[in-house]
Amino acid sequence: ASADLGVFGLGVMGANLARNLARHGHSVAVFNRTLARTERLMERYGSEGDFVPASDLKDFVASLRTPRVAIIMVQAGAATEAVIEELSALMEPGDIIVDAGNTLYTDTRRREEALRERGLHFVGMGVSGGEEGALLGPSIMPGGTAESYNRLGPMLESISAHVDGEPCCTHVGPDGAGHFVKLVHNGIEYADMQLIAEAYSLLRYVAGLSVPEIAEVFRSWKDSELDSYLIDITTEVLSRTDPVTGRPFVDVVVDAAGQKGTGVWTTQTALELGVAVPAIAEATFARAVSSAAAARAAVRAADLAPGTSESTLSGQDREAFIDAVKQALYGSKIAAYAQGFDEIATASAQFGWNIDLGAMARIWRGGCIIRARFLDDITRAYNSTGSADNASNADNEDAHLASLLTAPVFASALVQALPAWRQVVAISALTGVPAPAFASSLAYVDQLRADRLPAALIQGQRDFFGSHTYHRVDDPEGIYHTLWAAPERTEEKWN
Ligand code: 6PG
Repeated sequence: ASADLGVFGLGVMGANLARNLARHGHSVAVFNRTLARTERLMERYGSEGDFVPASDLKDFVASLRTPRVAIIMVQAGAATEAVIEELSALMEPGDIIVDAGNTLYTDTRRREEALRERGLHFVGMGVSGGEEGALLGPSIMPGGTAESYNRLGPMLESISAHVDGEPCCTHVGPDGAGHFVKLVHNGIEYADMQLIAEAYSLLRYVAGLSVPEIAEVFRSWKDSELDSYLIDITTEVLSRTDPVTGRPFVDVVVDAAGQKGTGVWTTQTALELGVAVPAIAEATFARAVSSAAAARAAVRAADLAPGTSESTLSGQDREAFIDAVKQALYGSKIAAYAQGFDEIATASAQFGWNIDLGAMARIWRGGCIIRARFLDDITRAYNSTGSADNASNADNEDAHLASLLTAPVFASALVQALPAWRQVVAISALTGVPAPAFASSLAYVDQLRADRLPAALIQGQRDFFGSHTYHRVDDPEGIYHTLWAAPERTEEKWN
């Protein structure tokens, strides 16, 4: 037994992770069900470091030094389940199985509990950064026991991205915490992508900019608080010309967004936790609408909106609109991240994970898809005020940041962005160029800002048809019901 750890599943992500580990001086056992993949890895990259190739699972496990560490990188769902079963049967108490796929955290919790009963550590680990990240330095979000992190953490930290000398990897929390945080990362990824796409659409169909001009606008935003990997790749995609037709690449791609399901999970989970994540939900719905080919064709054919039209702005108006879109994008982005962090804080409290929100922002600063300058500000905002779970500690109560929107750096940014943001959403509605995530992010902020919400009316309606009761502003603990059917409509107190 000589290998420091093993990687099971040598698709591009698994192979790149194994290569990254080997390049950092770790001895890596590698195994794949189809032997040809293992052979190909050895042939092409065998000289990059110390690989221990195995042709059957028993050899793979036998080649790992104890306590063993085996990282699984296969498709989430049935494939992952099957591998965990087989591997765990060959492992001994104290050994560590790591699932590095995009697994739903509830599955991770279930598996962790089952393996814990057999004395094994099960680590659900989020890995972000795509294929290149896996090879050159991803952001890594491992859950599981602190004991497993002692064995695993130093290796992971050595291969992760680094920002300001700090690794983009930390122990997130117990059982499913790592996969949960990766889930929310992906939800934020969906929202961020949708917001950027809406900005592009408004610049094109309201301001009348050409695609290369829009690419230049995005390039110029690199020098601002919007600086991020997603803005960079947007510039690249918009700058590309299709070699076949000579048209902008973005015009020859079918406008139906795909998805593998993590946006749906983030939204579903938020609904279950009772957390509002409208930007993430809107982004996920927008992908669904884009792919609803039959409905889109039918509604387009019915020509329902003769009153709306594309418009072009010129000169100063155009410059002002570009700046307004920039501000709307920044405001919406703040709202979307606030929602994601709220989802993490809520789950952390519910499952007792004690997640350090500032640390999550810190490990997202490099390696991952949502890496951005902006995450430095989020890290600082949480580090200076304490994270959600610390709020249970009375000393920290005042310091607890109940919403990212209230961090001074973001509160002042929002105050500045709101007028332009409102204009952009209004223009979107008036021209019929849709910007659903801009609009719902604005509504999210406005709801949180409001003195009074129409929820009071909802309570009245619920009490009317279902005796669901309400609280009074002058007696918030009291439970009240009005006898709506009785002619005198007397109010009763039920507690
Ligand atoms: C990452 C990404 C990655 C995800 C893809 C595809 O962090 O590296 O989030 O894990 O699988 O982005 O997601 P969709 O196919 O759902 O867009």
